Parts: sequence; structure tokens; C-alpha cells
Amino acid sequence: VCQQTGFDMSDPAQLETVRRQFVLKSRPTGVPKPDDFEMVSTPVPDLEPGTFIVRNAVIGLAPATRLRLGGESSYMAPTPLGSVIYSQSAGVVVASAHAGFALGENVALMDGGWQTHARSDGSNARKIDPTVAPPSVWLGALGVSGFAAYAGLKAVAGLRPSETVVVSAAAGAVGAAAGQIAKIAGCRIIGIAGGGRKVDFVRATLGFDAALDYRSSTFRDDLRAACGDGGVNVYFDNVGGRVTDAVLGVMSDFGRVAVCGQISAYNATGSAGGPDWMPVLTKRLTVRGFMIQDHQDLQDDFIRDLSVWIRNGSFKVVEDVIEGFENLPAAFIGMLTGANLGKTLVRLEEG
Ligand SMILES: NC(=O)c1ccc[n+]([C@@H]2O[C@H](COP(=O)([O-])OP(=O)(O)OC[C@H]3O[C@@H](n4cnc5c(N)ncnc54)[C@H](OP(=O)(O)O)[C@@H]3O)[C@@H](O)[C@H]2O)c1
Repeated sequence: VCQQTGFDMSDPAQLETVRRQFVLKSRPTGVPKPDDFEMVSTPVPDLEPGTFIVRNAVIGLAPATRLRLGGESSYMAPTPLGSVIYSQSAGVVVASAHAGFALGENVALMDGGWQTHARSDGSNARKIDPTVAPPSVWLGALGVSGFAAYAGLKAVAGLRPSETVVVSAAAGAVGAAAGQIAKIAGCRIIGIAGGGRKVDFVRATLGFDAALDYRSSTFRDDLRAACGDGGVNVYFDNVGGRVTDAVLGVMSDFGRVAVCGQISAYNATGSAGGPDWMPVLTKRLTVRGFMIQDHQDLQDDFIRDLSVWIRNGSFKVVEDVIEGFENLPAAFIGMLTGANLGKTLVRLEEG
């Protein structure tokens, strides 16, 4: 699962005229189905002044895309039917009429989309350095996933050494990063994930101090035992629902909860079994949702720290790479339902 994808992006191919895209065919109910997406071929957009064309090499998948497809828990403006599916991507500039982005440069696009080619005006693009890490890593550990973990622990949870930290969706992109960063900070880490394979991975490969399966009938008892008498100082919540309900019950006084995501609600058609917030009250907990766009002042520190940790081996880059553009819907559905370890990426055919 720790793959180095190693693209050679230094030699941009000639600009194709047709691009492939996945567009939204129908609004999903519950977990999306492959039929909710449609693969279409459209012309590569014209190069207008101040824009450039990127040929995507890798597409990073994120649960928040589900919120854009519509549904009860969505707080984002829905992607219109027939429009390309929102996602981040990384690739190479294959044509440019933009002063700041030259032919052959490697870039990551916040809104590159499920498509082989994207046009950008530069506002949602950043240059990436493939000598620091391959493009895929700039979408995961050095991208939004790692940054959500870093900002959530530092700016939202106010992590301190020696604290006990619980991370939900611990085998995913954000969770794997959050646990490792907290471990590097000198904390004791308990990961929560679905199933034995993930629990073993979180403990044995990522080096968390304990890992628990939230699907186990003994989960609440296991959690209480793993936390011990001291309880949990920081809960980094990616999932909400019943998992959060259990963790709130084992928080220590004056604990902090960083609410990063609520994936258990993203596909829910009714109640996801929401948390009992009484412990928030009685334990005077600080609970705070956060969006990474509020913490951009941490970007330079984040890249500096993660680059060092990746290079010196104290941080493991965890990637789940699926080959082939046509597999985008299946990879997305797999991530939403737990098939992935670490950052889910779809690698497009080269050439
Ligand atoms: N606040 C921000 O700015 C920000 C930025 C980036 C991401 N996020 C949030 O961070 C969270 C993690 O994102 P990610 O990209 O790292 O995804 P991910 O964890 O790599 O993949 C999603 C995982 O969620 C778990 N899951 C799915 N349904 C669940 C349920 N009902 N209960 C418990 N776990 C469930 C699955 O793992 P299991 O097999 O373990 O269930 C699945 O592998 C998401 O909620 C996302 O929206 C927030």
C-alpha cells in the first residue's frame, strides 16, 4: 500500500484534442452507484488568454465529493447534472497562455476534476516539486489529506506531547496522517477503523499504540480498555455517528474534539445514529469543526515538516492506487464504503 508511483512528467506529450470526463448522470440515493456517473468524450477546451491546459496524471478522491453529488447531509452547492465530477488532480502543463505557468511544469489543481484534461486560470493551481515527492503524494500526504490532519491537530485541537489521542477512519488518508503526526508529536494514539485488516495495518504498519474495530460487538468495551483511566485528551473525528458517540463517553475532562469530517452521514438517507452530546456539556469539552481553507497560514510549516518526516522515514506515505480512468466511479464508491487504505488515487494511462 505504500507505493511510489514515480511518474516521469518531464516530457509533456503533444496536446490531444479530445478529453475523457466522468459527469454526474443522476443524483445518488445512499451509496452512489456506478450508473450515477457517465463517461463522455468532449473537446479539450480552447486555450484562452491567461489560462493553461493540464493533462491529469493522477486524480485524488475525497469523501466530500459525495456531498457535492447532492443528498440530505449536503452543505455544498451540488454539482449540476451533466457536469464533471469535482476532485483534485495532478498533472503536467501541456499548453499555456498564462505568464505564471509554463509548458512542462508539474501542477496540482484543487478542482482538476474526473477528467483527463483540465483548463485552469491558475487560481486553483499550485506548482508541485516532483523531486520532493511524486505527484500523487501532493494530493494526499502533502495535499489536503495531510493538511487537514496537521491543521486539525495543531490549530484546532492544540495537541500537546504525552496526550492520548483517538483518531477515527484511522486507516484512511486523513486518519493515517493524523495518527502519525500525533505520534511524532509524542502522543499515545488509538486508531478506530472498520475490520481486522485495517486494525492490523493501523497498529503494525502505521505504529499506532492501539487500534480498534468499530464493527466489533465489543467495540465500546475495547475502547474503554484501550483508553484506560486517564481517558482521551484529543479526539480527531472523521466519521461522527455511533463511533463519535462511543468516544465522547471516554473523553477526559477538558478534552478537545476536532471535528474534521462526518463520513457516516454522507451517504445516510435518514439519521446516522448521531452522538449524544451530554459529555460535551458535563466534561466542558471544546468541540470545533474546521475547514482547511481557514488555516492556510500553516501551509509553509506543513510542507516543511511533512517533507522532513517523509524523507527521514518517520512518516509513511499510504496510497491506494487504482489503475485506469474508467475505474474512477468504482474507486470512489470503494473509498466511501471502506475498500481503501490511505489516500485513494486513480492513475490515468500514461502517454
Ligand atoms: N475539514 C476539512 O477541511 C477536511 C479536509 C479533508 C477531509 N475531510 C474529511 O476527513 C474525513 C476522511 O477523509 P479521507 O479523504 O481521509 O477519506 P478516507 O478516510 O481515506 O476514506 C473514507 C473512509 O471512511 C470510512 N467510513 C465510511 N463510512 C463510514 C461509517 N459509516 N462509519 C465509520 N467510518 C466510515 C471508511 O473506512 P472504514 O473501513 O474504517 O470504515 C473509508 O475507508 C472525511 O469525513 C472528509 O470529509 C475534512
